[in-house]
Parts: sequence; structure tokens; C-alpha cells
Amino acid sequence: MKKLILGVLGSGKGSNYRAIQEAIDRGELNAEVRVVISDFENAGILDIARDRGIRAEYVAPGKFRTKLEPEAEAKVVELLKAEQVDLVVLAGYMRLVKEPLLEAFPRQIINIHPALLPKFPGLESWKQALTAGETKSGCTVHYVDAGMDTGEIIAQREVPILLDDTAESLHARIQVAEHQLYPEVIRLFLRQ
Ligand code: GRF
Repeated sequence: MKKLILGVLGSGKGSNYRAIQEAIDRGELNAEVRVVISDFENAGILDIARDRGIRAEYVAPGKFRTKLEPEAEAKVVELLKAEQVDLVVLAGYMRLVKEPLLEAFPRQIINIHPALLPKFPGLESWKQALTAGETKSGCTVHYVDAGMDTGEIIAQREVPILLDDTAESLHARIQVAEHQLYPEVIRLFLRQ
């Protein structure tokens, strides 16, 4: 069966990207990450890619804080297309996605969010869940649209919120669930 070609976008430390790469290494995911792209020159996610000999690209975001400038997003599309990417995987990518990318990859861009959407979109959602007195949280993989964490939900995994949880302990538990769920969901795209 043909391998799924992945392009990964991330702004941070890249633990989800690492989990995807490790699932590939273990033979659990018939995929290949061809390129990792970041809007932060020093992002850990780029180092993980470089250490593995995977193409790692920094694309300067331009003047906006919450999205890429259109020229920068066009550059991202060019990189992904040049590598013949089947699925664009957002892994801790901290910007909204706009038309050039959405039009180039219709229903081929997914994101993971550390909450049970539609509850608690946006930043530091585990803190939001804790403050709201929830008894459970988790993570959601969803298609990406132009909104913030608003795209159609593909899969979710729950984790409990314990009485003595801090923001850090809850986030760590959610991340363990993320690292299991994301490779599992990516595997579903092999059958499409
Ligand atoms: C994850 O919690 C993910 O849900 C959110 O950003 C975080 C990225 O973490 N979108 P990492 O860079 O994969 O470690």
C-alpha cells in the first residue's frame, strides 16, 4: 500500500511530531514525513526533524501575530506541494490557517487541540478546563478551517481531571493522550 506523505507544521517543542515519527519507526503508521515547517526559527520541532535528517524549513511569518502573511503562506504551500504532501499535520502550530493553504489542501489539513472541543478552544485550554471545574478533559483531532479550533471533529480522547491536578499535571496527562491519538487518526487517512 502507498505510504502517506506528511508535511508537519509546528511552532513549539514538537512532542506530537516526535510521537508521529516514533509510530512510523515502530511500523505502526505507513507514512513518511517529508518536510517540517515552522514559523519560529529556533523551534524544537525543527531540531527534531534535522536530527532525523528530515527536511526542516523556517518560513518567516511576516507582520501578523495570529496568521502568516499571504506571501509566507504561499511559500508554505510551495514547500508542501514540492514534497507531494498528502496530509498536512498541524502539531502545536500557533497560527490560523488562511486561504492559500486551505484551498491548496481541501480536507487534507488536521490539527490536534488539548481539550474536548467544542469546549475550550484557543490558548491554554487545559487551564480553562481546570478553572471551569470540569471533571474530565482530553484532546481532539479535527479538520482545519479558517477559524480557531472550529473545524469538523474527527476523533477525541478523554482523560480525567483529578482533584489535586495542577495546570502542569493536567497538561502532561493530556499530552500522553495526544501522542497516542494523533498517529491513530493519521492512520485513518491511509484508507481514503
Ligand atoms: C499540544 O498540546 C497541542 O494540542 C497544541 O499545542 C501543543 C503542542 O505541543 N495544539 P508539542 O509541540 O507537540 O509538544
